[in-house]
Amino acid sequence: MHVLLLFLPALVLAQTIPNVSLLIDNPHLYSGKATIRTVLPLVSIRKGGPFHFGSTHDIFAPTAEAEWTSDKFSNVWNHIVAENGCKWYDTEPQPGVSNLTDCKGVQQYAIAHGASFRGHNTFWHSQLPSWLPGNVSASDLVNTVVPEHVAAEISGLGSYVTSWDVTNELIGDSTTMSMDAWECVQSANRWPTMTMDGGSVPLVTYLSFPYAAWSTALKYDPGKLVYNDYSTGATNDSKTECVFKLLADLHTNAHIPYTHMGVGFQSHIGAQPGSFVPKEQLETTFRRLAALGVDALITEMDMWIPTNTTAALRYQAAIWGDYIDACLYSSNCHEFIGWDTRDDVSWIKAGPGHGVAMPTLFDENGNPKPVYYEVLARFERYAAWKPEMCATALGVAECQVPRD
Ligand SMILES: *[C@@H]1O[C@H](CO)[C@@H](O)[C@H](O)[C@H]1NC(C)=O
Ligand SMILES: *[C@@H]1O[C@H](CO)[C@@H](O)[C@H](O)[C@H]1NC(C)=O
Ligand SMILES: *[C@@H]1O[C@H](CO)[C@@H](O)[C@H](O)[C@H]1NC(C)=O
Ligand SMILES: *[C@@H]1O[C@H](CO)[C@@H](O)[C@H](O)[C@H]1NC(C)=O
Repeated sequence: MHVLLLFLPALVLAQTIPNVSLLIDNPHLYSGKATIRTVLPLVSIRKGGPFHFGSTHDIFAPTAEAEWTSDKFSNVWNHIVAENGCKWYDTEPQPGVSNLTDCKGVQQYAIAHGASFRGHNTFWHSQLPSWLPGNVSASDLVNTVVPEHVAAEISGLGSYVTSWDVTNELIGDSTTMSMDAWECVQSANRWPTMTMDGGSVPLVTYLSFPYAAWSTALKYDPGKLVYNDYSTGATNDSKTECVFKLLADLHTNAHIPYTHMGVGFQSHIGAQPGSFVPKEQLETTFRRLAALGVDALITEMDMWIPTNTTAALRYQAAIWGDYIDACLYSSNCHEFIGWDTRDDVSWIKAGPGHGVAMPTLFDENGNPKPVYYEVLARFERYAAWKPEMCATALGVAECQVPRD
């Protein structure tokens, strides 16, 4: 299971869902018959390089839907991320004993489907092996534990990888604009900036542990090295500012070239105003990264909906389409991953804060939802060299993002 880390503590309020216009309202313009994967090579041509559109898989996942899953990784997605199989608890179950069976298994599954593979992740405070945090001193952590883990995993997976989440979710949720990079991380109040017993004495007292992780990762040059987090991407947002400060700090103090860096925007969002980042803001943030030479990636997208209605499913399609467009029309975005393949296996469950969930492209029976067809239409439109559309999720009347 992907451990629950909530996005904004979103309340599902009774709100009017905007009336959106979608590409699938003009079906004669779009085939609806092509599968997404058949369009991706044409997307890559316009992009000027490979475009990776993926979802999650684990080789130990229940196999009831094995045939469906294999079909979709042949006909929809061309890119695969291990949902859990590359996390620390699975890859180093005992100290110093690397076991990459489950992680490499997903990479092999990708190869068998002609798909690319991305690594998630080498450092996270959650889903740790049982021996961590344990009684590890700061110097052991920074000089031995982190470098050995990162080296074993990244070198073990080799070069068949587009990018690695080197550090995941370091930054807290209660940041302010005035914090520096260390304060941004320390404000999360998590190991290892806190002692193992959760006491108030910090184990590490500066960004030594991300420096260790990133410097080690850089030695193996496994594609882009990514900082991955949730509730980021908006403009005038202190957590997003913290991401920029962390990149600058890693650049200055760990000597990581910006051109090797990426930022993963997890994008666990909701189809409700305030629970997603408007396209214009996402693109502004992506362009700021591009100016540094840093890639932007959508790494874990899913989107709960407030009600199981046509209007909500259309709103979901519009927002997802806007995120796709933001990535496609940004020069530095080459990877877009949806978290979980279909609604019935999603880690986002219906309930308080998540409405009726239904957060993926496919329903609980594995059938494509309106959002699937809209995403396909966005890809087809881009592949046909059409100009970027306005931000559909804001509703037609508010559409004001003319480009090209
Ligand atoms: C490595 O992990 C796999 C999958 O969890 C397990 O079956 C295997 O026994 C492990 N190997 C060792 C040497 O522990
Ligand atoms: C933790 O490790 C230190 C140094 O190795 C040792 O002195 C101490 O007793 C250990 N504490 C516990 C609770 O194991
Ligand atoms: C940025 O956000 C702050 C606090 O939320 C707000 O006071 C300020 O007006 C915003 N600035 C801009 C330019 O939107
Ligand atoms: C949503 O509504 C449709 C149509 O009534 C129904 O078939 C489907 O099972 C519902 N899904 C969920 C998750 O409630």
